[in-house]
Amino acid sequence: PDKGLRDSFGRRIDYLRISVTDRCDLRCRYCMDEVMQFLPKREILTLEEIAVIADRFIARGIRRIRLSGGEPLVRRDFADLARALGRHVKSGALDELTLTTNGTQLARHAEMLVDAGVRRINVSLDALDPAIFAHITRGGDLAKVLEGLSAARDAGLKVKLNTVALRGVNEDQILPLLDYCESLGFDLTLIETMPLGDIADARSDQYLPLIEAIAPIRETHDLIPLDERTGGPARYFALSGSNVRLGLITPLSNNFCADCNRMRLTCQGRIYMCLGHEDHVDLKAAFREQGVAGIDALLDRALAAKPIAHDFSVAKGAAPSTRRHMSVTGG
Ligand code: GTP
Ligand code: 5AD
Ligand code: SF4
Repeated sequence: PDKGLRDSFGRRIDYLRISVTDRCDLRCRYCMDEVMQFLPKREILTLEEIAVIADRFIARGIRRIRLSGGEPLVRRDFADLARALGRHVKSGALDELTLTTNGTQLARHAEMLVDAGVRRINVSLDALDPAIFAHITRGGDLAKVLEGLSAARDAGLKVKLNTVALRGVNEDQILPLLDYCESLGFDLTLIETMPLGDIADARSDQYLPLIEAIAPIRETHDLIPLDERTGGPARYFALSGSNVRLGLITPLSNNFCADCNRMRLTCQGRIYMCLGHEDHVDLKAAFREQGVAGIDALLDRALAAKPIAHDFSVAKGAAPSTRRHMSVTGG
């Protein structure tokens, strides 16, 4: 019998993304508002609660967990959670435990992550020019991220950069980022900007389809499609004359929802079945009232309600698909 988790469209769900905090030390323009109210502490799951919930999800068939935020490394005692979940990698109950981070605190955490059982991480980096980086992140210090990236490499972590392609902002950063990845042995994934939450910038103006974003790469490299997949939505390409594996995430120009394998747990204890929809279930309440039985009941309800696809639009005047910002769901 098939013990795994399936949604009502028959998709197997074996990848759980956990946003451990909505807080972040950066303020990327496409992700957050300039002034964002963070959630009060009492509304947030404790790390112990997250670990118990994750244990139950694993028992029900989750095989990969990605920790995200906000910025996961700003949550106090994050290492305890990484170690608790890493035990499942060591026992074989989980295929992988991964992290998506902005890299600012990586220098302090890289060794800990490896000890905990993390083998690869994705690091958000949209520019190598310090001024462009500071513009996008509203004041972030590029040097700290670069230091974190070196530490990650030295610790033996496999690193993939995540770059959101933004028209008129970082198009000219893509080749420098590719060179940087080449020199450090990293992979590079480009991402189309998604309309989550109201932001100050006009997404319709900044939306850059990846077919355009990769034009400069194609001038000097052939893109050779690879069959390999990671847990997420990226399609990967080898580049002639380069060791960098190029990932493309195209929520707008080439929908990938048909083979979605994911669900999300936020730090507020909600399960979101789709990044692009508001519907969710309140796992925190069920868990605090009924314990593990409450998790099971809501998990089944959430699976049955998983929508077939997101319907993002960045057309001029289109409202964002969700009121919540990306920093709440963690991507
Ligand atoms: P791996 O494939 O395991 O390397 O990770 P990932 O690409 O799934 O995770 P990451 O946190 O690095 O996310 C990269 C981008 O993919 C972010 O912009 C996410 O928002 C986006 N993403 C991940 N899952 C989904 C999804 O189900 N739908 C959409 N639209 N975007 C997603
Ligand atoms: N559209 C696409 N990607 C986004 N990210 C944050 N906000 C958006 C958005 N609006 C990316 C971050 C990070 C990942 C979790 O999601 O750059 O790499
Ligand atoms: Fe922070 Fe990541 Fe959002 Fe940037 S994209 S503000 S680093 S959570």
